[in-house]
Amino acid sequence: MGNTVLHRSLAADLSTAMIYALLRLRVEVFVVELGCPYQELDGHDLDRTTRHYWLAPDGAIEEPQATLRLLEPTDGQFRIGRICTARQARRQGGLRRLLEAALAEVGDAPCVLDAQLDCVELFSSFGFVVNGAEFTEVGIPHVPMRRDASARVR
Ligand SMILES: CC(C)(COP(=O)(O)OP(=O)(O)OC[C@H]1O[C@@H](n2cnc3c(N)ncnc32)[C@H](O)[C@@H]1OP(=O)(O)O)[C@@H](O)C(=O)NCCC(=O)NCCS
Repeated sequence: MGNTVLHRSLAADLSTAMIYALLRLRVEVFVVELGCPYQELDGHDLDRTTRHYWLAPDGAIEEPQATLRLLEPTDGQFRIGRICTARQARRQGGLRRLLEAALAEVGDAPCVLDAQLDCVELFSSFGFVVNGAEFTEVGIPHVPMRRDASARVR
């Protein structure tokens, strides 16, 4: 992961091969590895305001190792989701890099996400706070988290 390059693109600017590669990684992690039968292609990947972030080896942009998606479902409010790193590329700081980039774009605007319990501490370190009850989605416990203008990265 050390020599990977961080990329960011609006949905409209993604090539067909690139969106295919990002969706392929997400399906590899969430559906195949975690065994979650859910609607991975939820209709938001091509929304006008959707931003995709990913890390890929230098010179191999279409081989993403990690990705996340930043939605802007209502004007000025953001949602981060579809966060995943290929199994062989984990624990090398990839998610941290992606989060830093996405939150730089979010700035002081409110931002929400649904966190798997293992990741609550990590998101807390970026200023997110748990703001609702635990719930289960496709068999995996999550909590809703929110980051507001007053949040400061620890
Ligand atoms: C969760 C996931 C995205 C982390 O990606 P990553 O690129 O390995 O994350 P990073 O290397 O940037 O790790 C950042 C921090 O997250 C935390 N973290 C990462 N994976 C973790 C795990 N499995 N358990 C607990 N904490 C974890 C740690 O605090 C880590 O920092 P450290 O390595 O200094 O201890 C990755 O494990 C993954 O794709 N998992 C399957 C998909 C998934 O669960 N996605 C939903 C996340 S809400």
